[in-house]
Amino acid sequence: METVVSGIRSTGNLHLGNYYGALQNFIKMQNEYNCFFFIADLHSLTTHPTPANLHGNVKQVLVEYLAAGINPDTATIYIQSDVPEVTELYLYLNMNAYMGELERSTSFKDKVRAQPDNVNAGLLTYPVLMAADILIHRATKVPVGKDQEQHLEMSRTFGNRFNRLYNHEYFPEPYAFNFSNNLVKIPGLDGKGKMGKSEGEGNAIFLSDTPEAIRKKVMRAVTDSGPTAENQEKPSEIQNLFDLMKVVSTPDTLVHFDNLYNSCTIRYGDLKKQLAEDMINATAPIRDCINAIAGDAEYLRKVAQQGADKARESASKTIREVREIIGFKKF
Ligand code: TYM
Repeated sequence: METVVSGIRSTGNLHLGNYYGALQNFIKMQNEYNCFFFIADLHSLTTHPTPANLHGNVKQVLVEYLAAGINPDTATIYIQSDVPEVTELYLYLNMNAYMGELERSTSFKDKVRAQPDNVNAGLLTYPVLMAADILIHRATKVPVGKDQEQHLEMSRTFGNRFNRLYNHEYFPEPYAFNFSNNLVKIPGLDGKGKMGKSEGEGNAIFLSDTPEAIRKKVMRAVTDSGPTAENQEKPSEIQNLFDLMKVVSTPDTLVHFDNLYNSCTIRYGDLKKQLAEDMINATAPIRDCINAIAGDAEYLRKVAQQGADKARESASKTIREVREIIGFKKF
């Protein structure tokens, strides 16, 4: 059975981008593959969270994984920092990762722009830690959104380099995966780029948002004054709303509003109302479970412990073999 690994950083509530880019695929894959889904708390240290924030955010992602439908008895759910073998592999892979290629990574350049006062070495080697997450279970499929494609390419590079250096076909090549065969990028509501946790107030719809909060955010989404000619190309802020509709609404709804747009009879207020209701329906089953699960500390503790045990079993086997390949031997 093929092995699947993926993770989400513990940097806040999960949003529709996380759901459609990653989580939805986790849930579909769990019955078909040997799955490891983790909470990337080590990765979140690059922005220096306080201990209380770190803990709260880890718990929130764990709760939302479970509320979204990951079954901890089928898939292995764990917290990255519970598996120290990951950081050991990270160190070995760092010896083979070159400054130039790390500095050229798009995510590093974006972070340098976003947090110029905190360009730490953890940011630079972020893709190496990510490769360690994947290679530690020798995974081949990684369900992620489009923004992670370059990181997957780097993971293959680091794995292959290790194999070549030690002349040993040890790590398989991991590939980004999405059931639709196309990696997705869910747009935000600000009319600009992707939906993200840190892209500004109102840009993201969270799985835990109340129906009222969803309606408010969607009604405030950026639009223009409407099409002025039939079949006109949609500007990006309008296209974004249609793209969101594509993921949460029925195909008939999408065609209906597309026709209205093309015939210049669209009223954006109607489109937004429909979009908000469809988002509310799409997230309702998850939202309903979040509070109940969050209150069950004993269950969360059990899930995290069981996941850590299973993940360490797999990870320690890899580390034993990697140590041997590298040449660490007991005297
Ligand atoms: P993170 O925490 O930024 O995002 C988690 C997952 O959600 C996807 N995603 C999106 N997909 C589509 N549209 C969006 N707007 C959108 N926003 C986020 C991301 O592609 C990702 O799949 N580096 C990773 C975490 C990580 C990881 C790993 C993933 C660490 N180690 C190993 C896979 C394997 C990250 O920052 O994701």
